[in-house]
Amino acid sequence: MALYSDKVMDHFQNPRNVGKMDDADGIGEVGNARCGDIMRMYIKVDPESQTITDVKFNTFGCGSAIATSSMATELIKGKPISQALQLSNKAVVEALDGLPAYKLHCSVLAEEAVKAAVKDYYDKNGIAYGPELQSCDGDCESCGVEH
Ligand code: FES
Repeated sequence: MALYSDKVMDHFQNPRNVGKMDDADGIGEVGNARCGDIMRMYIKVDPESQTITDVKFNTFGCGSAIATSSMATELIKGKPISQALQLSNKAVVEALDGLPAYKLHCSVLAEEAVKAAVKDYYDKNGIAYGPELQSCDGDCESCGVEH
């Protein structure tokens, strides 16, 4: 059996939503304490519906980080923020038909970057949020979320 699923290879070789967003409403940057790789995610939010209308990402990470971030952006684009915050790295990995166990830590970057971008949007707009985001300081090891 191949090490990586067809979906992982597809999202690694043709990542969706890559790039920078100059007029982003929220920007999240997180680092993976396991490997030192970093990820930046940009979101555009419709304030009326609190929906993520656009999302982009850049990463200095491995192929698995690229594939999981690409899939994560597909899963949250057009979705309400409340739904995007429910996105777990496990759900992203499942949507990619799995990752080798030793690469699972790479998927944490995507989940944390989404949360950090939403937190940045909330901070910029004075919107209150719960403790699950308060602990998100860009260092995945300290986020307290079980991955
Ligand atoms: Fe660092 Fe994959 S090895 S994100």
